[in-house]
Amino acid sequence: MPSPLRVAVLASGRGSNLQALIAARDAGTLPVDFAVVGSDKANAGALALARGAGIPTFALDPKAFGSRREFDAELFRRLDASGADALVLAGFMRILDGEALTPWVGRMINIHPSLLPKYRGLHTHRRALEAGDAEHGASVHYVTAELDGGPVIAQARIDVRPGDDEHGLAQRLLGVEHQLLPAVLRLLAARRLALLPPHGVALDGRALPAPLQLRHGELVD
Ligand code: GRF
Repeated sequence: MPSPLRVAVLASGRGSNLQALIAARDAGTLPVDFAVVGSDKANAGALALARGAGIPTFALDPKAFGSRREFDAELFRRLDASGADALVLAGFMRILDGEALTPWVGRMINIHPSLLPKYRGLHTHRRALEAGDAEHGASVHYVTAELDGGPVIAQARIDVRPGDDEHGLAQRLLGVEHQLLPAVLRLLAARRLALLPPHGVALDGRALPAPLQLRHGELVD
């Protein structure tokens, strides 16, 4: 039995994905220890949730730093100091400097609300609706220096329904995000995943031909 993975989480917003991770840990289905939760917003809901769960937190105000480089250096200094083995970006809305994140490549994941490689960046729900997509979804990928461009580990799909608006679609997708992120972190915690540079993912030592898919709450290939 490997020792529990020590996980740091970065979040800028309400923190519902963090809440899903904490709930899975509390339910005994996600064997991780949360080392720290950090944010670029002192009033982020995610920080309040973490404090409520007894997880150490920190907030760094980007305005207090002269440059992105200095902010990122302090951010990663804090993450290193937490003793975390892995880092989860759960709604962290800042772009990270490629050089600063390099030591974490292969142990850092992000959840993005689109079926990557479609719709990197912002307003993914609106863009899926505007394109008339029949299907929308979320992806969990390894973070590399390329924004929303690292190898995709797993995806969850939902149908776009007639009458869906941006808010409704986002809300429905959030429900599956809350299953997807714990499911991927579970694989990471079991040391079953690896990044195969430059664009691949291995599960149990075998290169995945395509991202895993969430079906009925389980990841399948
Ligand atoms: C989620 O939609 C996630 O996919 C995106 O940011 C949002 C965060 O929501 N990266 P929450 O703060 O976890 O509720």
